[in-house]
Amino acid sequence: MIILKTIADTQKLLAHSKDNGKVIGFVPTMGALHQGHISLVEQAKKDADLVVVSIFVNPTQFNDPKDLEKYPITIDADTQKLIAAGVDVLFLPSVAEMYPTEASRLMDYDLGYIDTVLEAAARPGHFRGVALVVKKLLDIVQPHKLYMGQKDYQQLQVVRKLIADFELGTELIPCPIIREPDGLAMSSRNVRLTGEYRQVATELSQTLYKLKEDMAILPLTEAKLAAQKHLNSHPLIDVVYLETVNGHTLAPVNDVNQAPNIAALLAARVGGVHLLDNIILKP
Ligand code: PAF
Repeated sequence: MIILKTIADTQKLLAHSKDNGKVIGFVPTMGALHQGHISLVEQAKKDADLVVVSIFVNPTQFNDPKDLEKYPITIDADTQKLIAAGVDVLFLPSVAEMYPTEASRLMDYDLGYIDTVLEAAARPGHFRGVALVVKKLLDIVQPHKLYMGQKDYQQLQVVRKLIADFELGTELIPCPIIREPDGLAMSSRNVRLTGEYRQVATELSQTLYKLKEDMAILPLTEAKLAAQKHLNSHPLIDVVYLETVNGHTLAPVNDVNQAPNIAALLAARVGGVHLLDNIILKP
């Protein structure tokens, strides 16, 4: 695996590969890699000739500086995992490389409605930071295919919009959520779930599974209310939101016939850790 730390070296190497007709698959990450990330690499390896992974803990997407401080950094272990997974190129830029000036941290791009609800309302500015860095990374790597996990459902819709609005010409490949054997969605933040909170966190996926089951026998609003009530009554779970939404626009949906596809999106704080999960209710 080739490790590149500068934009210039990365662009040079990838331009050469493209000239040789290679299909480039790209997996952007913030490190602290787990099987969820590796599943994206595995998919990219199936479709592309050259697999590029980036590790960059992007400061502009952390609305809470304490969250950035606590973000796990495990570069050596990550590198070993990427070598074992057969990654060709690791792009590992510094903050100064990605944001050389104050102006380079600004982005005058309005994401519209999806940047006002759910995760965006809970973490103002988060998706602007995501859009900013993903745009920069796509401009550098210019991949044919981009692999992102469905666990960050709203992020996927943000990136889908970014690619369409800027006509970036990369194909977004959403990949399924990878779960621990007890159902907890894999996340780099899970390492911060200590003691009993790790067990409590399984309530999130269990509640979503139950919501999907209930949907077969109850009106959608009742199924959702039962799920909200269940989580709200748990003393160690602080629900940020649990909403049933249009799978593309993220507008609220209260009736199964209201949208062609429906997802339930959930965020909750468990032991002070912000966790996300979701389930597709109507594909
Ligand atoms: O999902 C992540 O790890 C990050 O938000 C991403 C897409 C790499 C942008 O920093």
